[in-house]
Amino acid sequence: MIIRNATEKDIPSILELLYELGRPEPIDKKEIIVFKNKIKDYFSDPTKLILVAEIDSEIVGLVSIIFLRRLNHAKFEMYVPELIVKKKHRFTGVGKKLIAKCISIGKEENCYRIRLESGNQRKESHKFYKGLGFEQSGLSFSKNLLGNKIEINEM
Ligand SMILES: CC(C)(COP(=O)(O)OP(=O)(O)OC[C@H]1O[C@@H](n2cnc3c(N)ncnc32)[C@H](O)[C@@H]1OP(=O)(O)O)[C@@H](O)C(=O)NCCC(=O)NCCS
Repeated sequence: MIIRNATEKDIPSILELLYELGRPEPIDKKEIIVFKNKIKDYFSDPTKLILVAEIDSEIVGLVSIIFLRRLNHAKFEMYVPELIVKKKHRFTGVGKKLIAKCISIGKEENCYRIRLESGNQRKESHKFYKGLGFEQSGLSFSKNLLGNKIEINEM
């Protein structure tokens, strides 16, 4: 298995993996172009990275990385929005190798920590992260901005 930076030719495999993670699929052809352009952004933005795990020319996993600047830290915070391993390749060490690569990049790039969010329902992934030494350090809150609910500033 090799872990390498993703390139444009990996975009279809990256999208397949994101759908496997449960991310929204495009509603029409226009949206596929939007998704593809968002991935391309990662290739041109030095604060972002997508790494893929490849076995015999097949993309079997990915991790995405954003280097965040925090107000009270001289070093970057490495934020990991996505980590996915294809179902049939799970429990074979791919996820662990992707995280190990994040750790070594984080050290090289002067990051003070890695942070990620994992949905409450992903109990299995929580075991994976805890097994790799990640600590649950907070709760994650989100507010849906779609739909017609009354917003706080409108009440
Ligand atoms: C979570 C995920 C990335 C783990 O990847 P993986 O390649 O299967 O994990 P690995 O084989 O590298 O496992 C590393 C260690 O974690 C343990 N582990 C992995 N998945 C586990 C699970 N579901 N439950 C308990 N332990 C688990 C392994 O047993 C292994 O332990 P070991 O080092 O003592 O042998 C993968 O299951 C996945 O893609 N899940 C769906 C998407 C997802 O939930 N992503 C995270 C979003 S926050």
